[in-house]
Parts: sequence; structure tokens; C-alpha cells
Amino acid sequence: MKSLIDKLEREHLLTHTEFIRLLENRTPELDEYLFERARNVRLRHYGRDVYVRGLIEFTSYCKNDCYYCGLRRSNAHAQRYRLTPEEILDCCDAGYALGFRTFVLQGGEDPYYTDEKLCALVWAVKKRYPDCAVTLSAGEKNREGYQAYFDAGADRYLLRHETANATHYGKLHPADLSLQNRQRCLWDLKDIGYQVGCGFMVGSPYQSAACVADDLLFLHAFNPHMVGIGPFIPHHNTPFAAQPAGSLELTLFLLGIIRLMLPKVLLPATTALGTIHPLGREKGILAGANVVMPNLSPRDVRGKYLLYDNKICTGDEAAECRACLAQRMQSIGYQVVTHRGDYPVTSNPTN
Ligand code: 5AD
Ligand code: FES
Repeated sequence: MKSLIDKLEREHLLTHTEFIRLLENRTPELDEYLFERARNVRLRHYGRDVYVRGLIEFTSYCKNDCYYCGLRRSNAHAQRYRLTPEEILDCCDAGYALGFRTFVLQGGEDPYYTDEKLCALVWAVKKRYPDCAVTLSAGEKNREGYQAYFDAGADRYLLRHETANATHYGKLHPADLSLQNRQRCLWDLKDIGYQVGCGFMVGSPYQSAACVADDLLFLHAFNPHMVGIGPFIPHHNTPFAAQPAGSLELTLFLLGIIRLMLPKVLLPATTALGTIHPLGREKGILAGANVVMPNLSPRDVRGKYLLYDNKICTGDEAAECRACLAQRMQSIGYQVVTHRGDYPVTSNPTN
């Protein structure tokens, strides 16, 4: 198996069959071998720097009904809120003072936030903070919408592909959502000129090793700037309430694989990873991740943006996430840096 990891590091790709073999033959020893290789690649490109993005969860309304997500429209127990543009700008003010130079505006697919309103929002943030990057994460839109946000100043867009296997996609989503439209969105975003993030849940219901191999081949084909992966965690008010969570071990293993496959990719150690294990994000960094996304949402709404159960950083006890993460990164010998953290310019593509 180590030879497969060596091949992945050398050639940045394995076949579908090889990926499955690697995934099905994980051992703690192989994990350590992979993490060391991945850490080295990460050190070569990013040193011990950890990039931060301030996450602002601006609306918990969603018109979609994904079976896994606590914000699905059929969840009548979800507490819905919408931040006003003024409240969002207040979050940015607080974030800027803390050193954030990227703001991620994330929300459900909320029809209240029309293209016009989203453009005005992006414009207002960029006008106040021209030195900051604005990342949108607001779901599936038509190309014209994506173009309009870009023209208003949005720099980046996050849209997880969720799964690259059409049959699996159909088991996670109702029939009005399709893998085809999801991927159309991603290619439109890239074509328009965004720095684009895709990604998937690890251990989602019905996910097989073959599905994960499909995801990895999709990542290679799409070549995103960022890849967000985290374990699936059941939410008690969804159809997947009784499904088991994804594992820490497989998530870390995939972070390592993705680092070797896409050496310069921006790879967050996600909140979901921090939720399934108290040191999940630290372990993620040590497996090859290089980004963390602390919560900048106002305290009073943090407990209402619940995609899954037991989400961290939602209660009153949540200390300032920025300080908490800086300390956590320091404890493993890494440091949070405060520049925009753009994807590196490809002057030296393979190293
Ligand atoms: N567990 C883990 N991740 C989830 N997401 C949505 N619901 C869950 C869940 N139950 C992820 C999806 C989505 C992102 C914003 O959060 O991948 O794209
Ligand atoms: Fe939010 Fe630690 S990152 S409290």
C-alpha cells in the first residue's frame, strides 16, 4: 500500500481501482505514512502557516430538502433567521479588527436573498474592505447570477459537489436536485473566474469506497482551488437521523490523499471534523489541511445554524473562535496568518 501512496505523491493520481484498494486497506501504520508524506508536501508549499476565513452564516432559510441537512425546508423545528446587511457588515467590522482578511458569506438557498440583494451585499463589503476577499457560499444559481456576484466583487465561491456518483447523489437528495446541475454550477463558477471550492461529506449514508474513488477522480478533473471535506454527522430532525456518523480516521486519511493529489489546494480542517473529535481540527492540520474557518456569526444566531447535531462553537461557552483556533494551532507548532490567503500563483506548477 505504501507504494500506492508513493505513486500518488509522484503522479498526483491513481486509478479508480487503486483508490479503492488504498481505501479498503487502511491501517494505523499506513495512516501515519500518508500523513507524514502529506505534511511534507504541505510544508513545502505553505510552511506552518494556517490560513483563516471568517465564516458569517447569514441565513438559515433554505428552499431545498437535502436528506442529510438540518436546515432542510421540511425541518419544522429549525429556527430560521436572516441577518440584515447592517448586521453582516457589523460582523465584518468585528472580524477585520481581529485580523480576518477573508469573509465567507454562507447561507441556505434563501429566495429572500435575490441576486440583486446578494450583489448589493457583496458590493457593500468590498467597498468597506477593498483589501479583503469575499467568498460566497449560497448554493446553486444560474450562470447570470454567479456572473453578477462576481461583477459586484465576489472573489471566491464555495459549493460542495456532495458526491460525484449520480446514484449516490440521488440517495442524498430529492429528485429536484441533480448531480448534473450541481456540476454545471461548479464549471460555470470556474469559467467566470472565481476561485472555487468543492467537496463532500465523508461517510455519508450509502457512500461506498467506489463513491469516494469517484469523488477523488472528480477532484482531479475539476482541479478546484479549495476542497472542503468533513464527516457526515446525523441531525436528529432529518431522514438520516439514525444513520451512523462518518469516521475521524477516514476523514483524516482523505485529507492526506487530497493533499498529495492537489499539492497546493486550500484544504480546511472543518467544523464537522472538530465536532466528531475534540482535537479533530488539529489532527486535520497534521494530516495535510491548511485552512480553518472560525465562526464570526453573531452569538445569538450561532445556535440556529445547525446542519448537524452537537455542532461546536455554538454555545455561550464558545470563547472567541479566532483566539481559540490561534491557540489550538500554536499548540501543534503551526501559526494562523492574517493575509487574504489566495490560492498560490502557479509559477512552479509541480513543486
Ligand atoms: N453532516 C455533515 N456535513 C453536513 N453538511 C450538510 N449537512 C451535514 C451533515 N448532516 C455539509 C454539506 C454542505 C455543507 C455546507 O455542510 O456538505 O454542503
Ligand atoms: Fe470556536 Fe474554538 S473555534 S470556540
